[in-house]
Amino acid sequence: MKGVVGRIYGEASSTEFTFFIFNPREVKRTDYVKVWNDIDGWVVAQVVDVKATSESVAEGRNVEKEVYIGKAVVIGKRDENGVLRTPKTPFVPGENVFKAEEELIIDVLGLEREGVYIGLLEDHDIKVRLDTNSLVQKHCCILAKTGSGKSYTAGVIMEELMEKDVPLLIIDPHGEYATMKEPNRNRDELEKMELFGIKPKGYGDKIRIYVPPNSPFTDRADGVLKLDGKNLSAEEIFELTGLNNSSAQALLYQAIKNLKGTDYTIEDIISEVEGIKHNAKWTLLGALEKIVESGLFDSDATPLDILLRRGRAVVLDMRGVPPEHQQLIVSRICGRLFEMRKRNEVPAGMIVIEEAHNFIPERGFGKAISTPVLRTIASEGRKFGLGLMVISQRPARVDKNVISQCNTQIIMRVTNPNDINAVKKGVEGLTSEMVDEIKRLPPGTAMVVSPELEKPIIVRVRVRKSMHSQAVGVVEKTSKLGKLEKRKGKSERGEKGDSRSIFRKMFGG
Ligand SMILES: Nc1ncnc2c1ncn2[C@@H]1O[C@H](COP(=O)(O)OP(=O)(O)O)[C@@H](O)[C@H]1O
Ligand SMILES: [Mg+2]
Repeated sequence: MKGVVGRIYGEASSTEFTFFIFNPREVKRTDYVKVWNDIDGWVVAQVVDVKATSESVAEGRNVEKEVYIGKAVVIGKRDENGVLRTPKTPFVPGENVFKAEEELIIDVLGLEREGVYIGLLEDHDIKVRLDTNSLVQKHCCILAKTGSGKSYTAGVIMEELMEKDVPLLIIDPHGEYATMKEPNRNRDELEKMELFGIKPKGYGDKIRIYVPPNSPFTDRADGVLKLDGKNLSAEEIFELTGLNNSSAQALLYQAIKNLKGTDYTIEDIISEVEGIKHNAKWTLLGALEKIVESGLFDSDATPLDILLRRGRAVVLDMRGVPPEHQQLIVSRICGRLFEMRKRNEVPAGMIVIEEAHNFIPERGFGKAISTPVLRTIASEGRKFGLGLMVISQRPARVDKNVISQCNTQIIMRVTNPNDINAVKKGVEGLTSEMVDEIKRLPPGTAMVVSPELEKPIIVRVRVRKSMHSQAVGVVEKTSKLGKLEKRKGKSERGEKGDSRSIFRKMFGG
């Protein structure tokens, strides 16, 4: 019979069954099969395990043969209203098991026919598309260990969103996303494009690179993002300056209290403090001067509505900017954008946060001034059309609440036990088999979980249309020779060293 790959044997229930596999080359783990159920008709199941055992085929004699046994877990079938149903009666041993056709798989899994195309369903030619609105408005996270393809996948999603003109703001601590202006020229990847049905493409017309004023890369940017430094809170100032002298802190609270009610600048705080008679004021003034000197703030501030515009992706390249400045910048711009979004002064869009553990650390893993704002956007953003894409290689160190607020969860290879635990806690409905799967995922392969999908799916993420630049940590793992050559190249160009690697030391991972 056409498409028959096996036969149910032994005990079968309505939710799972085991089956003899006729040809081990035809059935692999993760494959989709279908079985006839007398009451429900064709029901789809997924192969979750394949075992080979040997069995004596001739009584009394020493003749053995391998037998392949598959275990399948039932997904179900769509009823006439499109609702997925699982049968209530068991499958019948002896019933044939067939390969499921693509259309049936798409239908049963709840894959979209339009939307954000992220790759192919593992071992199938089926394009996985995710619902654009749900992905953007209800947040999305990408979690995996370094080198497994997080930033690459994030880039794939950004390409798709740029093509749909979704406004994007990309917080880019390693300056990885500027290369998306150019088409992909990686030879291996170009070869795979046909498989995924795509063509190389650069997004130079959509992407604008901004840097903070104290960035070492202002010359390479399209613009400098100047913040106005208005109404800094005492806590923000402590974070920025590391001021921990309690008398000086008390003076700052006092000065800010005196200024409350009006918009105030750092200069206003300074003149307020200058008027105070207390020895600690000099420590405080020193700290405040540091803020002024950092050049982060400017009375001629950049209007923030440039950060979220239809058909535009702004990459905020923060390479070489100290972590506490990065956190403050993120806190300020995200806070303002959220306010502007509520007043409809900027369109709905998405903020991408790379290295999210640095901006929304889990309790016990450091503090960041950006935490409250990002938490608020995670819990309320969807009401106002402001989505987050949270990316991190340390799931255990990212605020758990934020992860569980993400409707679309993209999990790539994770092996660290603490991170695995965090994924188990933050991602609903993972079975222990799926957790084992996560530990084994090859680079560029992702498990995608979302309420729109009937169950987590494994996706081979498509290649990028645009150029991907690897973050420094991955590049640094090249051979010693490669390193030597790089160093040589540097001294020839008279560069002092790799400011990116210095930066990595400050910020980790
Ligand atoms: N879907 C993919 N297709 C092809 N290559 C990929 C894919 N995903 C990742 N890679 C390769 O793996 C490397 C590491 O991916 P990257 O996204 O930079 O890792 P990280 O998880 O550390 O952000 C990339 O430079 C690229 O060469
Ligand atoms: Mg990365």
